Order: sequence, then C-alpha cells, then structure tokens
Amino acid sequence: MKFWLVCSIAFLLSGCCISQDETIVCVLFDIPNGFFMESSGSFNISNTTTYGCQTGFTTLQGLHRGETTCLLDGWVPKPECIKTCPKPVDENIIFSTTKPVALLEEKLIFECTDGHETINQKRGGQAVCTLKGWSPKPQCLSIECEIPILEHGSIHPRKDQYVNRDVVKFSCIRGYTRVGSDSAQCYHFGWSPQPPTCKEKVTPCQQPPRISHGNLIGDLHEEYQHGEKMAYECDARFGMVGSSTAECVDGEWMFLPSCIEEEKTCGPPPSITNGHPVIVDNKNTHWHGETVEYVCDQTFVILGTNPARCLRGQWEVPSCTDGAAKCRRPKNAKFVPYAPLTKMFDNGRAVNYMCGSSLHTTKCNHGKWSPEPECKVKEFCPPPPQLPNAINEIEMKNYNSGEEISFTCKEHFLLQGPQKILCKDGSWQTPPRCVEAEGRCGRPPSIENGDVADTLMTDYMSGATVHYKCLLFYRMEGVPAVHCHNGTWTERPRCTEACTITEEDMSYNNISLKLAVGPKLYIESGETAEFICKKGYQANPTSSPFKALCIAGKMEYPICIEAY
Ligand SMILES: *[C@@H]1O[C@H](CO)[C@@H](O)[C@H](O)[C@H]1NC(C)=O
Ligand SMILES: *[C@@H]1O[C@H](CO)[C@@H](O)[C@H](O)[C@H]1NC(C)=O
Ligand SMILES: *[C@@H]1O[C@H](CO)[C@@H](O)[C@H](O)[C@H]1NC(C)=O
Ligand SMILES: *[C@@H]1O[C@H](CO)[C@@H](O)[C@H](O)[C@H]1NC(C)=O
Repeated sequence: MKFWLVCSIAFLLSGCCISQDETIVCVLFDIPNGFFMESSGSFNISNTTTYGCQTGFTTLQGLHRGETTCLLDGWVPKPECIKTCPKPVDENIIFSTTKPVALLEEKLIFECTDGHETINQKRGGQAVCTLKGWSPKPQCLSIECEIPILEHGSIHPRKDQYVNRDVVKFSCIRGYTRVGSDSAQCYHFGWSPQPPTCKEKVTPCQQPPRISHGNLIGDLHEEYQHGEKMAYECDARFGMVGSSTAECVDGEWMFLPSCIEEEKTCGPPPSITNGHPVIVDNKNTHWHGETVEYVCDQTFVILGTNPARCLRGQWEVPSCTDGAAKCRRPKNAKFVPYAPLTKMFDNGRAVNYMCGSSLHTTKCNHGKWSPEPECKVKEFCPPPPQLPNAINEIEMKNYNSGEEISFTCKEHFLLQGPQKILCKDGSWQTPPRCVEAEGRCGRPPSIENGDVADTLMTDYMSGATVHYKCLLFYRMEGVPAVHCHNGTWTERPRCTEACTITEEDMSYNNISLKLAVGPKLYIESGETAEFICKKGYQANPTSSPFKALCIAGKMEYPICIEAY
C-alpha cells in the first residue's frame, strides 16, 4: 500500500482519513441500509462517487441514488439512507406536498379528486409513514350509486354502474303518473332528489295553504290537479325562503315557501346610465320588497325589471338601452339568407336562422337578438341535491345551465368544499359536504375593533392557531391569538380603544403635555399621560390628577386656571 492512513473509528464512519503526505483521502465505508456503487478505492479531495439505498430507504432527498464528494470534512453530503414512504402513485389522490417521499413518522394529508372519496367516505384523509409503510394506506375510491328502482316506469340512460355526477331521467309507463322528481343525480350520499314513484291513481289537491306574511298570486280554484303549481309572494319587509311556487303532489301541496323578516334595507334608489328613478318620497331607507319606478332618457328604452326592487339590501335596477340600437349577426349563427358579420340590422327587424335542418326566427330588440339565435339544446339540471346536514332551502325545480345554488350547513356542521355550485351541461357540479365538527373548528370568532391577521378559512384542525390584530389606536388585551381545541376556540382577545389627546382639549383646559416627546397624541387604554399647566397657569384645586389614566378610550383631563 502506497499510503499510510491515519484512520480512527470515528474517521472511518465518515470515511475520511489523512494520508502520509498530508493529502486528504476519503475511503468507502458501510452505509447503513445503503452501499457505494464502487466497490473499493480511496478518493482524493473533490473526487465524487455515487451510492445507492436499499428498497424502502432513500437519500435525504428521497432518491434511490445519491452523489457525494470527498471534501476536507470527509464525504459531503454524508451518504445516508433513511426509512421513507414513497407517495403512492394514484392520479385520484392529491397530496398537500410536492415531496416525492415522506420521512418516518411524517404525516401526509391528501384529498381525493372530484368524483372520488376515501374508504371512510370522506373528501380526504391523512396517513402516517411507519416502518411498515403507510398507515393507513392512502386510497381514493370512485363515488358510485346503486341502480335506482322504478316500478311501472323506466330509467334513462340504463347503465350497470352509475358514478358521481351521473344524471338519470325517470318516466312512467302509460297509465301511470310520476309522483316526484323527473330526474336525479348521483352524489357521494346517493341519488338526489329521491327517485319518484309511478302511481296508477293520483289524488287532486284542495286549495293551497296560506302562509304567514305572504300571499298566493292568482285566482283560487276548488281543486288542483297533481302537478299544478301556485306561486306565492311575501309581504314587503319579508324575504322568501325556499321555493316561490308550491306544487300539488298526489293530494298534498309540496315546497311551500316561508316569509322571514328581512332586516337588511336599501339606501335611496341609485341613478342609472341614461335613466333615473322616479322619486315619490325622499326616503333614505327602503325595506326588502319595496319598489321604485325607473324611466329612461329620450330615445332610450328600459330593459330588465321595472319597477326596481329592494332585495336583501340591494336594488335590482333595470338598464336603459338605445332604442334605435341595431343588431349584428352573432359569429356562429347561420342566418338565412346569409348575412356578413358587418351587416347591421335595424331595431324590430326579424330574421331566420338555421339549426341543423330546421328554421327558426329571431328579432332585433333594441340592440339584442330575442331569442338568442343559438342552436343549443336547453339542458336542465335535476332539482338541486338535498345535502345531508345542510339547511335545505333551495327551490326544488329543474335549473338551467349556468344557474347557481349555494349551501349553508346546519349548526355544528362544517362546510367542506365549494359554497356554491353551478348547473353545467345538465348536471350539478360536485356539491360540498357538511361534516360534523368533531374536534375541528369553524371560522374563528370575530372581535370588535380588530381583525384576524391570518388568512381566514372556514374549517380548522384541532390545535390550529389564528392570530388577531387591533385597528390603529386600539390596544390588544389578552392573548393575541385563539387556538382550536377539540372543536372550540379558546378565549379571544379584546381590542380596547385608545384615548386621543387633542391640542384643542389641552388648550381648553389650559394644560400641555409634560414630556413633549414626539407627536404621539394618543395613548392606549391602561396607559397614562402626564400634563402640566401652561405658563402663567396653576392647577385648579378641584382638578383631576395630572397623571391621567386612559380607561376604555376615555380620559379625564386635568384643569388649570390663570395664576394671580
Ligand atoms: C490521488 O492523487 C494522487 C496524486 O496526488 C494520485 O497519484 C492518485 O492516483 C489519486 N487517486 C485517485 C483515486 O484519483
Ligand atoms: C480525483 O480527482 C483528481 C483531481 O484532484 C482527478 O485527477 C481524478 O481523475 C479523480 N478521480 C476520480 C476517480 O474521479
Ligand atoms: C371532544 O369533545 C367531544 C364533545 O364535543 C367529547 O365527546 C370528546 O371526548 C372530546 N375529546 C377530547 C380529547 O377532549
Ligand atoms: C382656562 O383659563 C381661562 C382664563 O385664561 C379660563 O377662563 C378658563 O375657565 C380655563 N379653563 C378651564 C377648563 O378651567
């Protein structure tokens, strides 16, 4: 051997030795759970080599192979193989981290893609990397619905397996009447609405019931047939919850709305471009349901709802459009006869257009085609999902593409997922879930004169912390953060008002600040400010102390009077 190596046990572990001629060399050593690719040799400074890890182990970077260089301190980085769990390869699992592996005891949070859920029927879960691998194994399964049953009827389309967002339509055989929804959609909790039944005989309904703070619109009859509808409206100041139309379903009126007092009011009706409201009385507040008529300037015509209506604190106003506005052919419309895109059509002009082989007519109505010369088949969505543990106050009817509904969970349940979903191409987007708030917390409590300093979420894990900050000139009292502790937030801090010291007040009381340190003219609650009499003035014997304390935003100034 050419070199005499000074190697101690400690050195050997890092693979570093110093040779006789004082050049540094590194040697190969036994890497626990790993191995060097080269089987023998010693390495000079800046020599690089490769090592590998045994199955189930990786480098610190999560790779099966790593490179290391012989430096003054030995091998850098130190060749190490550690126990790791590789992220499962499943396109339906979305991980909260981009790291390819998890270290031992590391927790991995995952969510399932749209249409999938965990084995416990949750939107996502967590798994821990153990010596034996993932526990439990992260898994996302397809959401499936059983084949619905409809006696004396048929279901369309027929499939062997229905999955999330599938829509089925129901029809009854001749001589039978459908009682219930005409369609349903597959969700994580099954079909919604419930499939209907097919009945040979349906019962007519008696007069629809009265509701408090609301009225029926239209004439009353003695009897109503199955499927007949009646609309309701609420008195001014009352907002409607639920469907505005009730339906006679086999002898019973269903989907009755309720009228709840609406506290939000509207300000004066706003002016609109090329038009204005007709002010009858100069009221500054208008109740929910109140109406105001709008008119347009000359040559403009009104479009939209007139009179305008105050709805939950906001005016729903019409718009004024140029009465003589012309129309152009929409890009994809096939006008008959052919019209170039540059051609202008006068107001009131009717034209024909083709959809496939059928001819339709549309009219230019103050700059807009009515109806839109589109060839889309109108796709309806089934009545909205009756989400478990949600406050189901959404109108039960078929919705058009593009319409939106929103969800609110019952108390003690947390909304997971989107608050609003859209009716798109005949089916509803995947709705959120209302999950039991076991150990989790909802929105952190709000505080007066302060705000949450972190990004606000609707759902927090047990142990989560949320910080608060006070508005300018307010002082934080208590711990400036809350913790989510098994479903409840710890006590929130308070923001107490500061006292503002004005030149005006000081001049009035013939005083000035003892220490004219900077322009700090406010002090926080609990702090003191010290005053002195202005030159030529002396303390009023009945004055409050010259060291004034700010209590909850209030402070008593001392008083000085002219000295004689
Ligand atoms: C290390 O350097 C010496 C000269 O300084 C050279 O003789 C030897 O071959 C080198 N060893 C390796 C492994 O490159
Ligand atoms: C080690 O480094 C020396 C230069 O310091 C270089 O000449 C030699 O080729 C390297 N050997 C290996 C095996 O990389
Ligand atoms: C958390 O609270 C629930 C009731 O809200 C209780 O049943 C449970 O034992 C509590 N868990 C812990 C760890 O305190
Ligand atoms: C301040 O002094 C004036 C006389 O210069 C006096 O009239 C006035 O009452 C004093 N202010 C107060 C609050 O006593």
